[in-house]
Amino acid sequence: MRESAPVRYDPSRGCWDVFRYADVKRILGDDGTFSVNPRLADDFQEPERPEEGLLFETMLFKDPPRHDELRGVVDDAFEPRAIRALEPEIRELATDLLSDALADDRGELDVVDDFAYPLPVVVIAELLGVPAEDREQFKRWSDTLVESSSADDETEAFLERQQQAQMEMASYFFEMIADRRESPRDDLMSQIVTRELEDGSRLSEEGALGTCILLLIAGNITTTNLVTNAVRCFDAHDLFDELRAEPDAIGRAIEEVLRYRSPVQAMSRVATEDVTLRDAEIESGDRVVAWLGSANRDERQFEDADAFVPDRSPNQHLGFGHGTHYCLGAPLARLEASVALEELCTRTATIETVDADLQPVRSSLIYGVESLPIR
Ligand code: HEM
Repeated sequence: MRESAPVRYDPSRGCWDVFRYADVKRILGDDGTFSVNPRLADDFQEPERPEEGLLFETMLFKDPPRHDELRGVVDDAFEPRAIRALEPEIRELATDLLSDALADDRGELDVVDDFAYPLPVVVIAELLGVPAEDREQFKRWSDTLVESSSADDETEAFLERQQQAQMEMASYFFEMIADRRESPRDDLMSQIVTRELEDGSRLSEEGALGTCILLLIAGNITTTNLVTNAVRCFDAHDLFDELRAEPDAIGRAIEEVLRYRSPVQAMSRVATEDVTLRDAEIESGDRVVAWLGSANRDERQFEDADAFVPDRSPNQHLGFGHGTHYCLGAPLARLEASVALEELCTRTATIETVDADLQPVRSSLIYGVESLPIR
């Protein structure tokens, strides 16, 4: 597509697809012409699920200046310096998860279920200030949230189960929100509810809940798939021994995973005015999908783009997006992934993926597999 139809209209989905690096970067870097606000799309329909409505009020779906104001509520907590301070806790959690999984007699562990999935969920729970005794429950709710963004078997029982879990989670968060308003502590939830916006007001209860849900949705399934995709790449290229001997090389190899097997494949925008992109006439109100995964394989930008080069440099991939909405959690995701991979390398003498029938994650936007057994 990058060659033959770099910007094309797909009538079956009613939107434009953009595949080349330069065009994807331009779209993500031009909020004025390509808005994140889904409500501006001609074919916009109000979402059926209440949590999606809440998300529409978060930074992810707001253009500046409202975006900057909402991001300002949490951004210092995600700065590289603040995130670096979390390393000991993240390492302890990673070693605990691995010890539990390796102590099991199965002789194999599932990278997704045993390791890459629980790690970011527990880290974000800790950051928010969820007490240790509630973390199992918290994890079960977020399983449901993840299911909701990928499941396609929406039977009545399934939907009922989901609604139940969502209500429980929302009321748990509402309690936490009220508690932190009353007596703030040194945690992210307190920051979310007490930080003043530009006009001196604070986030409403719904605004605070939406922010928590955004952090869960944006941070968990993505990091899970970064770790899992890294294990697949390192195994396919026989890199484990090399990385075990030189753990400092893991960070750069993870950047290449973000490029080569990008966990987030695409982001959506809406044109705010008529605009010509290559020879496509995009009209105001049209939806435009910027394919990060394709941009990251663009031969115009990356030499030998279809090869996995663990020490590729420079590596200006778009795996965390670009511009105003550049991933807030990038420093955290990088740290979690490198600690996870370091611990996996040092705690295992050999790593071999079990020949299994790998099932892709059920989502067109997330790239990864549902389960990855290794021994
Ligand atoms: C935004 C990818 C982990 C929180 C984004 C965007 C991408 C992305 C591509 C841009 C969205 C857009 O342009 O519309 C990833 C990947 C991750 C990851 C690949 C892991 C490998 C995280 C984590 C968190 C997080 C751990 C927080 C706990 C966010 C937030 C935004 C965002 C809040 C919205 C930023 C804004 O609108 O200003 N992420 N993300 N992400 N990400 Fe991440």
